[in-house]
Amino acid sequence: MSIQKVMVVGAGQMGSGIAQVFAQSGYEVILNDLNQEALQKGIRFIEKVLSKDVAKGKITEKNKADALSRLSTSERIKDAGDCDLVVEAIVESMEAKMSVFKELDQIAPKHTILASNTSSLPITEIAAVTNRPEKVIGMHFMNPVPVMKLVEIIRGLATSDETYNTIAYTSKQLNKISVEVNDFPGFVSNRILLPMINEAIYTVYEGVASPEDVDTVMKLGMNHPMGPLQLADFIGLDTCLSIMEVLHEGLGDSKYRPCPLLRKYVKAGWLGKKTARGFYEYS
Ligand code: CAA
Repeated sequence: MSIQKVMVVGAGQMGSGIAQVFAQSGYEVILNDLNQEALQKGIRFIEKVLSKDVAKGKITEKNKADALSRLSTSERIKDAGDCDLVVEAIVESMEAKMSVFKELDQIAPKHTILASNTSSLPITEIAAVTNRPEKVIGMHFMNPVPVMKLVEIIRGLATSDETYNTIAYTSKQLNKISVEVNDFPGFVSNRILLPMINEAIYTVYEGVASPEDVDTVMKLGMNHPMGPLQLADFIGLDTCLSIMEVLHEGLGDSKYRPCPLLRKYVKAGWLGKKTARGFYEYS
């Protein structure tokens, strides 16, 4: 099956990055969110990233203009009516995702694939609220989407081979490398990444070292591009906590218990870069 037109639901950090890579790869893209403010913020961010790429000589002004011309915005999910693929990138709430998938299932044509960019919620459970579980799949991009090469493709229990093959092919068209993963809590990426971040938080909580020193160990000692606490601030501490809770509940092992300091920061509203305060302060 060939994908021509795509809707991305959610114009936040992930959704706008996903919309950008689809538009740059020649797809017609509708970026959808609940209001104009969110949509304009997403579009401005895409324009800024593309302008930087032009300034660096990575793309031409024409490449930028072409990508932007393929991108439109919509506040109505009903506009998915002529899309071949919908990629949902809204908040990590099962209730919110179920409601969007139910609505999409009613509106989208029979052939349309419904993908979720969830970082840890079960694809099988999301698929179960639709009448097309064979066409529901996880398409998990990494942040920042235009830079990171990976797409983790998650097969729900009922996902068909045809759906998987279409998404694997589409990921290649986006110039990404995909991996095939079965639907278990945290998939592969976050089952490994988040316990490392949680352990880094425990290291600070137990007074072993400061956040700066923990990050320096991992950057200079292990060659990570970013320390785990800075990365946690970038991901969002609320998202980190909700992924740890999914791992803890879904795998039932105490090694996945979220660090009390992570809970405390989230309760305080210190959610990382987006609130200008997490393990670090941002201006
Ligand atoms: N959007 C687009 N491009 C961006 C960007 C963004 N938000 N942030 C940085 N870039 C680009 C820069 O423009 C730059 O491009 P060029 O090479 O063409 O100049 C490139 O990325 C490198 O950026 P910088 O030189 O400014 O900075 P850096 O060397 O520190 O790299 C980084 C930035 C690529 C983000 C790097 O720090 C990194 O790899 N960090 C770790 C990222 C990571 O682990 N992501 C996974 C997060 S987990 C996740 O997403 C899954 C989940 O479910 C939670």
